[in-house]
Amino acid sequence: MIEISNLTKRYGSINAIHNLNFSVKKGEIIGFLGPNGAGKTTTMKIITGFMAPTSGSVKIAGFDVFENPIEVKKRIGYLPETPPLYSDMLVKDYLRYVAQIKGLPSSQIEPGVARAIEKANLGQVQKRLIGNLSKGFRQRVGVAQALVHNPDVLILDEPTVGLDPKQVIEIRNLIKELSGDHTVVLSTHVLPEVTATCQRIIIINKGEIAAEDTFEGLSKRMTSTRRFYVKIRRTGDFEAQVKKIVGVKGIRPGTAGNSYEVELDKNDDSNEMLAEAIVKSGAGLMEFRSIDVSLEDIFLKLTTTDVAQQGATL
Ligand SMILES: Nc1ncnc2c1ncn2[C@@H]1O[C@H](COP(=O)(O)OP(=O)(O)OP(=O)(O)O)[C@@H](O)[C@H]1O
Ligand SMILES: [Mg+2]
Repeated sequence: MIEISNLTKRYGSINAIHNLNFSVKKGEIIGFLGPNGAGKTTTMKIITGFMAPTSGSVKIAGFDVFENPIEVKKRIGYLPETPPLYSDMLVKDYLRYVAQIKGLPSSQIEPGVARAIEKANLGQVQKRLIGNLSKGFRQRVGVAQALVHNPDVLILDEPTVGLDPKQVIEIRNLIKELSGDHTVVLSTHVLPEVTATCQRIIIINKGEIAAEDTFEGLSKRMTSTRRFYVKIRRTGDFEAQVKKIVGVKGIRPGTAGNSYEVELDKNDDSNEMLAEAIVKSGAGLMEFRSIDVSLEDIFLKLTTTDVAQQGATL
């Protein structure tokens, strides 16, 4: 649904994005994750046709954004970093106005507005002034204006920034509900955002893609070893015994009493061997589970300068 090829944008001497390539399938939700200044907003402005790239191309449903802008605008909805909301307009009037500018035929304006109000759950505030709404509801109006012409593709630039935790959850749920019918690209520098909503993650750093995968895939690729949490009843010479087991790279005491973190080779059956050896040792195995890598770990690894190169070679 979205095809991005060799996209480069320079602002004078600043290389905001460099040779980006990625594609997004129909119905997918993609998390576009990167630190401040990584080039997220720049990429989104180009995808939506608000800004021309220095070189490269973007296609939406097969239409080139700059050769067929009208076909593309019909298919794309955009929630910018700062949505252009008119605070002295009523919610419903504003959505009618946006539908008109987007060129919706007059017979489709009322149904389009009604659908956007329903999807963004704005029913109770549709007759209120935008300026009097809470920030969370204003953000919903921003999402509704992106949806009003029922586009196939939604580009959302940091949709939950500045919202309180309850509103964050509401907006996340809204985005999840929109997937399937819509292809969604969501930018954020808040890590939990992408694990909560996205099927695939693209990490961008200094204008280049540092990694692209599912969260599970990223976790796997980032670690050459696996870590396990082990809790036993009797410690004795447990540490020394574990060190002798084939595949064990290291062991260190955990935070709770009688617990350890054991680092293992990424070999498929090393965990089975470890569990078996602990049971046989008579230490009284009480708990055994793998320790997940957090997205924070991956993000830091991939966006910290010297390790970014390591990420790129994975
Ligand atoms: N209009 C502009 N003129 C000059 N430089 C710009 C302009 N817009 C963005 N930049 C620069 O391009 C780079 C990428 O910026 P961009 O806004 O795309 O990053 P971002 O990933 O959206 O960051 P944030 O998380 O802070 O929103 C930055 O170095 C920024 O300073
Ligand atoms: Mg931005």
